Amino acid sequence: MVITLLRNVVLEKEELKEKILALKERLPVTIVAHYYQRDEVFEMGDITGDSLELARRCKADDNEWVVFCGVGFMGESVKVIAPDKRVAMPRIACCAMARMIDKECYDESVEFLEKHGIKEEDVLPITYINSSAAVKASVGKMGGMVCTSSNAYKIIEKGLESGKKILFVPDRCLGQNIANMMGLKSCVIGDGQDPNDVDVICYNGFCSVHQLFTVDDVMFYRKRYPGIKIAVHPECDPSVVAVSDFCGSTSQLIKYVNELPDEQKVAVGTEYNLVHRMRDKNIYVLSSTKPECPTMNETTLEDLYNTLKAIENDEVATEIFVDEETAKWANTALERMLAL
Ligand code: 13P
Ligand code: SF4
Repeated sequence: MVITLLRNVVLEKEELKEKILALKERLPVTIVAHYYQRDEVFEMGDITGDSLELARRCKADDNEWVVFCGVGFMGESVKVIAPDKRVAMPRIACCAMARMIDKECYDESVEFLEKHGIKEEDVLPITYINSSAAVKASVGKMGGMVCTSSNAYKIIEKGLESGKKILFVPDRCLGQNIANMMGLKSCVIGDGQDPNDVDVICYNGFCSVHQLFTVDDVMFYRKRYPGIKIAVHPECDPSVVAVSDFCGSTSQLIKYVNELPDEQKVAVGTEYNLVHRMRDKNIYVLSSTKPECPTMNETTLEDLYNTLKAIENDEVATEIFVDEETAKWANTALERMLAL
């Protein structure tokens, strides 16, 4: 009974994949998938990669439609940097971290700095790409930029050339980790520290998935497998990054693991779908809890198929639109990043 059910599920997936490939042949679409997507969805991607690579490659793509399998801010960013493209998302799933900040929260952060005597003109804001177009627009208006986890170091370094204080939103972990790597002082809004005493002031947002990885997990693997390497994403807590061997974006983690000898054991602290796809042997997920991103996992093969069918029938319900004013300023912040 169970075997028959499983066989049917596999057959259904294979049938859907064939239908998706057939639709792709006859439609002007490029399917884009982030590394955290389910395996079967990821396999359908014409373009796959980390947030930065996806933004860059979508902008350069020629097809009329981008069908983006990822989370909301990713599809929105493509629409902002390539407004003539039509962008559809099989699921408009919102990244939990991006949801932690909206325009009002951003304005409150700027007010918080003003209350401490730090004027708006003395602040250079940087937003992680994991934020809404509205937040990116506010940052763009204030002369700031977007960054991703693969270029955050470079962007903060560039920002500091202005001689201003950096307001980093929304991920406190990424902001603090990069500040630590650069030997800078940082604080988190609300932690009681005086923002005048630091170089990088971080908003108090975080990724619920990457919070699952703890120093205890690192110690557990080090004790169990002496000599094991620990590689983590910079969305992990700074205490975890401090006891790891490597910290990098999804693409950088893949490169790090690929360059290790096959017999070298490695435990990786990032989303499950990516980690289990990296290697067959000598790889461990750095957590006793399966670190699945709920929103990334929302997109199914069926959703992808339905979106392509909707494009064929000209009845897309999940097309991404960004109003002109927001798009203009969000684009300014994104282009400042892409130019670097
Ligand atoms: P990358 O930029 O490394 O792909 O990360 C995106 C993300 O959401 C990680 O949680
Ligand atoms: Fe957002 Fe975290 Fe999921 Fe990345 S893993 S998309 S930051 S909730």
